[in-house]
Amino acid sequence: MIGIYFSGTGNTKYCLEKFIAAYDNSAETIALETPGVMKHIKENQDIILAYPIYYSNLPKIVDDFIKKNHMLWKGKKIYIIATMGLFSGDCNLTE
Ligand SMILES: Cc1cc2nc3c(=O)[nH]c(=O)nc-3n(C[C@H](O)[C@H](O)[C@H](O)COP(=O)(O)O)c2cc1C
Repeated sequence: MIGIYFSGTGNTKYCLEKFIAAYDNSAETIALETPGVMKHIKENQDIILAYPIYYSNLPKIVDDFIKKNHMLWKGKKIYIIATMGLFSGDCNLTE
């Protein structure tokens, strides 16, 4: 198992590290931007991918990474942790 995160202000990194500590203390967590991150993904069967929600979606850097490296994910178990500030931007809080 390995945890891969993209985190702007640290919330997602924090949540992923909390999850990994509770679930599999021996697993590593690394940033998506780390050079050689693909090698780490290749070597692990279970991947926890963590990112913040940006405007009800995933950040472009994460979307691009997933698509550019689409062969990396074949046959693996992928778990997603998506952090949010409040809620998806689709609701109208003034009503
Ligand atoms: C550009 C941008 C767009 C965001 N859009 C949403 C959103 O649509 N819904 C939401 O609940 N939070 C939204 N947030 C808040 C982040 O998802 C939230 O603060 C997240 O935990 C930040 O994680 P990080 O500290 O790992 O960057 C947005 C934040 C940014 C910077």
